[in-house]
Amino acid sequence: MLGPQRKDGLLVIASVRAVDPGANLDAIVDVVIEGGTITRIGAGAATKEILASERARVLSGEGLLLLPAFVDLHAHLREPGQEYKEDIASGLAAAAAGGFAHVCAMPNTRPVNDTRSITEAMITKARSIEGPALHPIGAITLGQKGSELVEMADLKDAGAVAVSDDGRCVTSSAVMRRALEYAANFDLPVIQHAEDHALTEGALMHEGAVSTRLGLRGWPRVAEDIIVARDVLLAEVTGAKYHVAHVSSRGAVRIIREAKARGIRVTAEVTPHHLTLTDASVIGYDTACRVNPPLREPEDVAALCEALADGTIDAVATDHAPHASLEKDCEFAEAAPGMIGLELVVPLLLARVREGVLPLARLIDALTAAPARIVGLTAPSLREGALAELCLVNLEKHWTVEPARLRSKSKNTPFLGKPVTGSVELTMAAGRVVHDVLAQGETR
Ligand code: DOR
Repeated sequence: MLGPQRKDGLLVIASVRAVDPGANLDAIVDVVIEGGTITRIGAGAATKEILASERARVLSGEGLLLLPAFVDLHAHLREPGQEYKEDIASGLAAAAAGGFAHVCAMPNTRPVNDTRSITEAMITKARSIEGPALHPIGAITLGQKGSELVEMADLKDAGAVAVSDDGRCVTSSAVMRRALEYAANFDLPVIQHAEDHALTEGALMHEGAVSTRLGLRGWPRVAEDIIVARDVLLAEVTGAKYHVAHVSSRGAVRIIREAKARGIRVTAEVTPHHLTLTDASVIGYDTACRVNPPLREPEDVAALCEALADGTIDAVATDHAPHASLEKDCEFAEAAPGMIGLELVVPLLLARVREGVLPLARLIDALTAAPARIVGLTAPSLREGALAELCLVNLEKHWTVEPARLRSKSKNTPFLGKPVTGSVELTMAAGRVVHDVLAQGETR
């Protein structure tokens, strides 16, 4: 992590294409940032006087794209308890490198984040780092055991922005109903990991032709669809805010689309890996491709992209799930599920934009305003008077995903060794520069 940038500095980004769908902006502009706030934005905003100022750092934005910084609804930062995989400092450094100003951290830590003290400790630690902001997500049930509800009022008061038993599904309909009813009192979204565990026992990958060929036990789509369908009914009855984590199946997409059309308060997220990879990636038994939910078939990927494009799926969330090499350098069946994601969002998803599969403006909304709205955060925005929370992207830069370039402690991604295009050159969070390739003179 860089040392904190002084908030009273003057930063000018000149002649940059700035895109912020929330501000109805897609234009070549100058941006002036003073004391951590965007003070001027527009063509010619960087006046001669400003450019001549001795304290100004002037960056040429030519050929670059300026975006509001991203908001991740779903990351596993592993602290407390599994700091050998990741900790709050390394996770936030990875987030900064990926263009994020806000990261919501899932509660499947050791111990589980089901109490005020853990939520508070996580926030205190993150504040001392002065990187992207961390927003803890509390558990739904004590120890994520699926039976007793946590003290949601306490968690919210301590700073939790949502509740989830992610990694485990709340399978009991009675517990889920109570969780939704209880959370509605505090306006907390309930984030479901939709998996009927009875249908996925021993399952290692998506159930289909590839799993049959590989001899790996299959994980049917319906295990996800059943839970989403049931939860939508419970959301309707309770009027609570219901959010589906990492949607992976075309059936779940259809159920969410219908629920939204009926006015039920449901929102959903999709990961970059489910938008780009299929179960065919598992053919070489690459343990980096073991994820929960599993990578599915091309029809699912197409349905997910379409749903993201038309807003049925509100947000992109990374499900950044770091695991150490000893948990991945093993047989497929023994490998821990999950892949890292914070640092690869830009190259992976810009590729889908270039292919014409995702509209750029919708993708930016899905990474910024939409997730912020779901958890009640002020969305990063490119407007005069807004706190500087932004990222500067080089769309054309080619680089190779290599362990040394990744800030995350864990390197579990199937993209290791692969060439990609598109990099985040600079990120600002809460008015401070938290990632700065331009200043480091790196060639990435
Ligand atoms: O692949 C996953 N890994 N999915 C989850 O839901 C949990 C996560 C983890 O914690 O490693």
